[in-house]
Amino acid sequence: MKIAVAGTGYVGLVTGVCLAEYGHSVTCVDIDENKISLMQSGISPIYEPGLQDLMKKNMAKLLFTSNYVEAYHNADVIFIGVGTPEKPDGSADLQYVYGVAEQIANSVKNDCVIVVKSTVPIGTNDKIQELIESNLKHDVKVSVASNPEFLSQGSAVKDTLHSSRIVIGVEDKSAGEILKQVYEEFNAPILVTNRKSAEMIKYASNDFLALKISFINEIANLCEIIGADIEDVAHGMGFDGRIGNKFLNAGIGYGGSCFPKDTKALHWLANFHDYELRTVKAAIDVNENQKLKLYKKSRRYFDSLKGLTVAVLGLTFKPGTDDLREAPTLVNIPLMIEDGAIVKAWDPVGIENFQKLYSDDITYSTSIEETLREADVCFIFTEWDEVKQVDLSIFNLVMKTPIVLDGRNCFNIHEVKKHKIVYDSIGRETVN
Ligand code: UGA
Repeated sequence: MKIAVAGTGYVGLVTGVCLAEYGHSVTCVDIDENKISLMQSGISPIYEPGLQDLMKKNMAKLLFTSNYVEAYHNADVIFIGVGTPEKPDGSADLQYVYGVAEQIANSVKNDCVIVVKSTVPIGTNDKIQELIESNLKHDVKVSVASNPEFLSQGSAVKDTLHSSRIVIGVEDKSAGEILKQVYEEFNAPILVTNRKSAEMIKYASNDFLALKISFINEIANLCEIIGADIEDVAHGMGFDGRIGNKFLNAGIGYGGSCFPKDTKALHWLANFHDYELRTVKAAIDVNENQKLKLYKKSRRYFDSLKGLTVAVLGLTFKPGTDDLREAPTLVNIPLMIEDGAIVKAWDPVGIENFQKLYSDDITYSTSIEETLREADVCFIFTEWDEVKQVDLSIFNLVMKTPIVLDGRNCFNIHEVKKHKIVYDSIGRETVN
């Protein structure tokens, strides 16, 4: 089977490389010539654990090109894995998906299945089918299938090689059979349904997870007020299999390229159909507030951050990625700078991307100790292992005043109590 993948971001590239790992020959297409030449020399343009090695291992089965006509014209299966960013009104911007669909329509010369991996609003796959059919240049049969991905950044390769499930949404049975063949080696449960249900499974899954996080964050906020401990509360809840013990980590809110966008997009879509998704709306609102939780907490210790040295540990929206999209730091650091704080930031992989946004106003370091030196306060935004494993005595040793505001509950409260630091985390007692 000849397989092409459009887009070489997190979804497209990981899909292409994993399909190659399971034996397929794959042509990856991107309009960005720089990315293509990097990949042609075996270098992954994105940071994702295991991706670089897997790519190198499978280079003989991978082709990278910006020539889409060449890639699509005789492909049997074409995956679309391009971005669907959020528009200012919260709806999904589909220009890249539709752009690729037109390119496909202009190029294909034999029957093929177009597989939409990008997260698209319910009904989009039907529109893509119509768009392609009305733009075809040859007399061929094209079937569009929805095949959402469920990978998380930072574990994208593992999540794809060992998928929790493969969801295939088709209107035509034979397309479903072809996709089942593509995924034959993947050893994951396969659910075949219609296109709209497949699209909805993706949104409902992400929005449910976002809801779970916003719920536990609200409970954490209440725990702080009434003196309960969120870690114990989440632990106790998690024993119930109906609740599950995952995704109950309280913190400063969810970020990334998926939950913020997908909650807003489904809410927007429901509104468009005159329906208000109230639970999803609540998850969005709670998250917006939660992102400012640490900044607000700093007011307990200082009237303003003006003239203070603030050490920031972690810039990315979560560990294991250099991605900054919707990261809480993007709202917090500008506030600190506006206040007149002197910001020193540490992150193992996110500095380069952050520097593109704030080059002059921040001192960056790849040493936690250097970042903390002489700081008046420390904000922890990302639970990197390097932070979780830090020797707790360092705060008192190198900071001017050892006040630690932890947005990711990185440390055990009992351990913290053995050190002379002020420690304020999420949903737990304050140590001082
Ligand atoms: C998320 C989903 O987890 C994937 O299943 C989905 O495929 C993906 O979106 C997508 O649609 O592409 P991702 O955004 O990479 O994956 O990251 P997550 O690990 O889910 O974390 C998202 C955010 O939630 C992070 O900011 C993280 O810190 C936060 N989070 C997660 C919490 O605050 N608490 C938790 O218990 C879990």
